[in-house]
Amino acid sequence: MSKEIIREVETEYTSGTRWVHWLRFVSIIILTVTGFYIAYVFISPKISNEPVLFLHAKMRMWHQIFGFLLIAVTILKIYTFFFDKNKVQRLEIISSKDVLSPKIWVAQIKYYLFLGEHPKLHGVYNPLQFVTYAFFYLVLVALCLTGLILYVHVYHEGLGGALYPIMRPFEALFGGLANVRTIHHIAMWVVLIFVPVHIYMVIFNSIKGKEGALDAVVSGLKFKNKKH
Ligand code: HEM
Repeated sequence: MSKEIIREVETEYTSGTRWVHWLRFVSIIILTVTGFYIAYVFISPKISNEPVLFLHAKMRMWHQIFGFLLIAVTILKIYTFFFDKNKVQRLEIISSKDVLSPKIWVAQIKYYLFLGEHPKLHGVYNPLQFVTYAFFYLVLVALCLTGLILYVHVYHEGLGGALYPIMRPFEALFGGLANVRTIHHIAMWVVLIFVPVHIYMVIFNSIKGKEGALDAVVSGLKFKNKKH
């Protein structure tokens, strides 16, 4: 006899996780548009006799404002990932357990290839997802570090001046200022490749899993299909 499927509502993401997600979303959009502009000035302000338009300076200002927002949410996210005691939040770090299980890796890949059922996970992310997100965070950290190195070379007072001696060893580590700029630019492209794949996978999982995977990043809730 086939088992009945009961849908139970469970909390998937804390409000903190969702806030960080959407602030990062907005930051990435603004940083990409303004970053492209800094790299290649693709529009110019209308001609004026007064030198007051400063479009490049304004683009750079917004780049830095959202750059520091991205730095803040990245630090917050790394802190909560490791130290937050909230039960729902802990599920993120618990997901790392499944990364060490070849059985779950194989089952997860079979699920994506329509060859099997979704494996039962200990945490909130499957192993493939966990490893991809970990790599994405490394790229974000690289963007923040290289961004800060570029920043301290433009602003020599206040925060820029205070961070200057701290960022100099990182600059040497990345192979000098010219390399820092190239790495910052290439890392942007890694983010730009990640984003459409991420959106595709979320929609794929939402439709195939029928558990409201996409809605969860707004509401925090997911429908868990349980066989009884
Ligand atoms: C998703 C994140 C980010 C993206 C996509 C991005 C993109 C870019 C791009 C494409 C450039 C131009 C590089 C070139 O000349 O080829 C740039 C420059 C720059 N970025 Fe970012 N960036 C990001 C995050 C950050 C962060 C976190 C900061 C830290 C405050 C930052 C600060 C800077 C600075 C200071 C410059 C140089 C501005 C100048 O030359 O005057 N960026 N960014």
